[in-house]
Amino acid sequence: MESGSKMTARLMLAVGGAVLGSLQFGYNTGVINAPQKVIEDFYNRTWLYRYEEPISPATLTTLWSLSVAIFSVGGMIGSFSVGLFVNRFGRRNSMLMSNILAFLAAVLMGFSKMALSFEMLILGRFIIGLYSGLTTGFVPMYVGEVSPTALRGALGTFHQLGIVLGILIAQVSALRGGLSAALFLDSQ
Ligand SMILES: *[C@@H]1O[C@H](CO)[C@@H](O)[C@H](O)[C@H]1NC(C)=O
Repeated sequence: MESGSKMTARLMLAVGGAVLGSLQFGYNTGVINAPQKVIEDFYNRTWLYRYEEPISPATLTTLWSLSVAIFSVGGMIGSFSVGLFVNRFGRRNSMLMSNILAFLAAVLMGFSKMALSFEMLILGRFIIGLYSGLTTGFVPMYVGEVSPTALRGALGTFHQLGIVLGILIAQVSALRGGLSAALFLDSQ
């Protein structure tokens, strides 16, 4: 292999850093499925607390569907905006900036239970959808452009790998007993 097409530590760091975005995207794709019951209970309790009556099944289904699907709406808007960002701020800065969205979404979703607000969770899902849509554009573009030609194909697979790893992490953390259950460390 000619020099300039070697796998260097800096290249690994650059690709590894970018692929954290793919991991986030995968995680948020998978994370909503397993805790459906928990989230529906939370919606029901919130409704009961606010309006002093249990939520109707139709309203609950609507709110739940919205929570799941609004991620894709965010994703659509995010992916349409990729070009806008990369041309104005560059690939790397765009990726760094998009983390603001990830933090914002994490705060909204993380504190929604404490605030007894399903609106926060739904808004958080929308914002992490925006982030994921942007990431889907930024990461393959960045990875493709920092990689030397000989390594481009190999490194290009890391985006997809990050996504499926993210989904796996989401599914595993949703198991009763978490990682230990997944590794069959749980004897029960
Ligand atoms: C909501 O909670 C109430 C009271 O705990 C319960 O009776 C009702 O079945 C729940 N509704 C749904 C749709 O889960």
